[in-house]
Amino acid sequence: MTDVLRSRANDRQRVYIRTLPVRVCHWIIFLCFLVLVATGLYIAHPYLLAPKNGDPFVMGAVRFTHFYTAIVFDIAFGAELFLILVGGRYERWDQYIPLSRKRWRSVVESSKYYLFLRRMPPMTIAHDGLDGIVFVIGFIIETVIILTGFAMWADITSYNSPLALLSFLIPLFGGFQMARYIHHITMWVMIFYVVLHVIRVVTLATLKHDGTFDSIISGYRYISPREVAAFEDGVAADDGRR
Ligand code: HEM
Ligand code: HEM
Repeated sequence: MTDVLRSRANDRQRVYIRTLPVRVCHWIIFLCFLVLVATGLYIAHPYLLAPKNGDPFVMGAVRFTHFYTAIVFDIAFGAELFLILVGGRYERWDQYIPLSRKRWRSVVESSKYYLFLRRMPPMTIAHDGLDGIVFVIGFIIETVIILTGFAMWADITSYNSPLALLSFLIPLFGGFQMARYIHHITMWVMIFYVVLHVIRVVTLATLKHDGTFDSIISGYRYISPREVAAFEDGVAADDGRR
């Protein structure tokens, strides 16, 4: 078995699929997500007591951290969407939104894998068709959490803050309390999403031995020439960029 894997590995080409800015945005978003969940849960249910002789304003510090981390999260998310719009060969928007017949075939084949109707997911260099759709669902979840966050922020900010310009968002979400409720529920949806995302990348990396997991750190995946040819005819697979 190990020999088979090793000989398969020798056949592979190193393909640069994720540029540095995309990788950096991915990990900034994840770090912000950890801070936002910890501080958001505190805002919802304060789980720390103010120290007797220390700063009594724990909630103030936590809200401050939540708001400024949210700004970093929003910038990284905006940058990620921008990179997808203008981005490299394997991380462009057409890797997310299936428009061609080939991409839709990939959606069907990948669904078969998740329905236990085929042993391996379909060949792909970056995302398969279904992965792309699932990532778009993730972007929608992130957009909801950002917009409800801004709706609440617009409501609690001082009247002369530029954030007050966003108060048109409040009625869109049915008022402050409803925005807060949606924001909170969306957090749990996002936690569930991230858990499934991690299970998926670990499973695929274990199955395919192609560097799926490492690619979000190194930028490279290891793919057979057959897979490269299936993706595009004759384009140089490894352009050596880092
Ligand atoms: C992954 C991202 C985020 C998570 C997990 C998260 C989580 C939470 C949670 C659980 C709450 C408490 C809600 C409640 O009281 O039931 C909260 C409050 C809040 N969040 Fe977020 N949040 C995130 C992103 C954002 C963003 C991007 C913004 C702003 C753009 C934002 C602004 C706010 C505001 C203004 C509040 C209300 C604070 C208050 O009532 O004092 N959040 N967040
Ligand atoms: C807030 C949390 C997270 C979000 C929103 C998120 C979102 C994403 C997105 C959008 C991509 C596609 C990037 C691209 O190629 O353009 C991606 C890829 C990836 N992520 Fe995450 N991620 C999160 C957390 C994590 C964590 C915690 C891990 C691992 C411990 C992880 C591992 C990976 C890996 C290995 C890939 C590349 C595999 C693939 O594209 O199929 N992610 N993630």
